Amino acid sequence: MKARKIRDGVYWMGAIDWERRLFDSLIPLPDGTSYNAYLVQGSEKTALLDAVDPAMANILMSQLESVPHIDYLVAHHAEQDHSGSIPRVIEKYPDAQVIASPKGKGMLVDHLLIPEDRIVTVDDGETLSLGGKTLEFIHTPWVHWPETMVTYLQEERILFSCDFFGSHVATTDLYVRDEPRVYEAAKRYYAEIMMPFRKVIRKNMEKLEGREIDLIAPSHGPIYDRPTFIQDAYRSWVLDKPRNVVVLPYISMHGSTREMVDYLVGALAERGVTVYRFDLAVTDIGKLAITLVDAATIVIGAPTVNVGPHPVVAYAAYLANVLRPKLQFASIIGSYGWNSKVVERIAGLIPDLKVELLDPVVCKGRPGEADFAALDRLAESIAAKHKEHGFD
Ligand code: FEO
Repeated sequence: MKARKIRDGVYWMGAIDWERRLFDSLIPLPDGTSYNAYLVQGSEKTALLDAVDPAMANILMSQLESVPHIDYLVAHHAEQDHSGSIPRVIEKYPDAQVIASPKGKGMLVDHLLIPEDRIVTVDDGETLSLGGKTLEFIHTPWVHWPETMVTYLQEERILFSCDFFGSHVATTDLYVRDEPRVYEAAKRYYAEIMMPFRKVIRKNMEKLEGREIDLIAPSHGPIYDRPTFIQDAYRSWVLDKPRNVVVLPYISMHGSTREMVDYLVGALAERGVTVYRFDLAVTDIGKLAITLVDAATIVIGAPTVNVGPHPVVAYAAYLANVLRPKLQFASIIGSYGWNSKVVERIAGLIPDLKVELLDPVVCKGRPGEADFAALDRLAESIAAKHKEHGFD
């Protein structure tokens, strides 16, 4: 794809990665992604904002063939999907300076071996005039690394946000044209990399208030020409209060744990609780992450393998712990063959969730009447807790 004009002197550059299906060797990308860079040309100077994943550097380099000179390369973030091809770009433009936050400078040196004397740091709020186009650098740490910053192009009221507000979508649309599709992709993206930092993200959003923003141009996914769409979504995702939702990831080896899951899902539904149920043998963990954004409770369905949880369940519990959603309650249900320490082992995997553990229901072999009664009590307890806290 060639460079695309956004405004006079402002261009989208970068690469659409239609075929990528996994990020960080972890995160499923059902719709691919993009690595957006942006060229801003003032009357005196030219800046390139971010670069692309090194696997797609040739595409950016071919777009830059028609750009004779670059003065600055703004590196908002040192992660390689944006910074990895900076060494090639600055090799082509030997006079260009790389601009980064102070933390970003060290990380660019560490990750990419960029010579220190090629990097200039900018303070929070510092501005740089390109001639009729003023770049304002705003430090926004922890979206989602400590060095991250964004750039506000004052005259055009464009926020170049890098990962912040991004979505993993490969599309020919320069601007968002299918909001429901982008909403889900942005929520998946938020869940997988931003959610652990939601409190600091809230502060970063407050910091951006007061600036008129006509466009949000992220480094993944299409540009938001209706910025309130993604700003409102983020505002709801970073709230402390969860919703009346249970997420229930499980595995069943011989059907007993599934019987318990079936029963509990029905018991919760009867009590007006929304349940998202995931058979971990086949589920897309991105979907699981999306539902964790709003959930109040997680119930983990775990059969026992050699006294501990089934390894696939252990992985899901560990992942939930890493993503640190705003969950407030947790419980464990499952069946075992001859002995089990599944409750202690799973509880040990989720120390960062800071949840109240509700009475687990673990049974030997197939569940019986007493076990179903215990599942009813668990459903009642969850519904009551949600109601008491005003989760709706
Ligand atoms: Fe898109 Fe954190 O890199």
